[in-house]
Amino acid sequence: MATNQYSSFRSSTAFPATMLAHLAAAALITLMLVWLLHFRGGLSFKSDDKAKYFNLHPLLMVIGFILISGEAIMAYKTVPATKKRQKQFHMILQMIALVAGILGIYVVFNYHTHSGIMHMYTLHSWLGIATISLFALHWLFSFFTFWYPGAQQSTKARLAPWHGVVGSIIFLMSILSAETGLIEKFIFLGLTRNQEALILNFTGVFIILFAVYVCFTVALSRYNQG
Ligand code: HEM
Repeated sequence: MATNQYSSFRSSTAFPATMLAHLAAAALITLMLVWLLHFRGGLSFKSDDKAKYFNLHPLLMVIGFILISGEAIMAYKTVPATKKRQKQFHMILQMIALVAGILGIYVVFNYHTHSGIMHMYTLHSWLGIATISLFALHWLFSFFTFWYPGAQQSTKARLAPWHGVVGSIIFLMSILSAETGLIEKFIFLGLTRNQEALILNFTGVFIILFAVYVCFTVALSRYNQG
């Protein structure tokens, strides 16, 4: 059954978009690691090693939060299993994304406090906090509605399209947060036309491509279902 589902997925219209999403994700992981390890001196879990400690923020937000929640969105198309298992994967991956996101925000708050920088003074920080708060609320509401204890079947069916729309809006907000964060860091570092600038700009481009392919995967699979 699982194998049949997977082969029908492979022959579906969404398959190329999903593959492109995975390629964009691989490119993003590579770019982030080259940027943080080669250009920004690496990563540290000790908050007194300030610059390296800050580096955990973009790492956790892009690889932990955005990539994992994008994979969670595509789980109904990529996980060769029963609908119930796919739902379980979707819920657990979103939970991992949420934990990574909360950790990423904790790190940058801690970094600001240790460096004597004020909190929440930029558009990026406002967008970011709104994104993670809505994500957490949406996850909790969806958990109680669709997983445990779970609403009545008719209520679930009525709420499912809203779940998809609200989830997509929050996903797009997370993309905006990451893009504004990258631009801000670009300016803080005073970058101009050099290798590091290219790496940062291409990171931004691949984040957008990833989001576009995730959206295509969802839209084309719906179209397939008729
Ligand atoms: C979904 C992705 C992201 C979210 C939700 C997010 C959220 C946040 C939040 C809430 C703050 C405020 C911390 C404070 O005021 O103490 C912040 C700060 C910061 N973030 Fe992000 N961030 C994300 C991605 C990124 C990325 C990819 C970068 C790139 C390097 C970045 C760079 C920064 C910088 C430089 C600051 C300090 C300046 C400021 O407060 O705006 N962020 N982020």
